[in-house]
Amino acid sequence: MIARILYLEGMPIVSKLVAIHIGADVPLQLKYDLESEVGAVKAYNEGIRMCVELADNGTRAMLEAILSDEEVHVDWLETQMDQIKQMGLST
Ligand SMILES: [Fe+2]
Repeated sequence: MIARILYLEGMPIVSKLVAIHIGADVPLQLKYDLESEVGAVKAYNEGIRMCVELADNGTRAMLEAILSDEEVHVDWLETQMDQIKQMGLST
């Protein structure tokens, strides 16, 4: 992504970090991870929307590939949470 920003003659900002929430147990870890992934999906969709608006198809294609990965992550986390609901946690 930094390479793309530089290619577009932009200035990547890597000093602004998103707060990380670490769950004390597996269900809480999954919950926080899911919140993060859902936020990523929303952000990439917004980025893709902007790329379409600006006719930047190179960046749009890059973001669409990343978005697909993030949607898989959301699905995996939801599956884990559903399995915990159905089977519970081991003791
Ligand atoms: Fe992810």
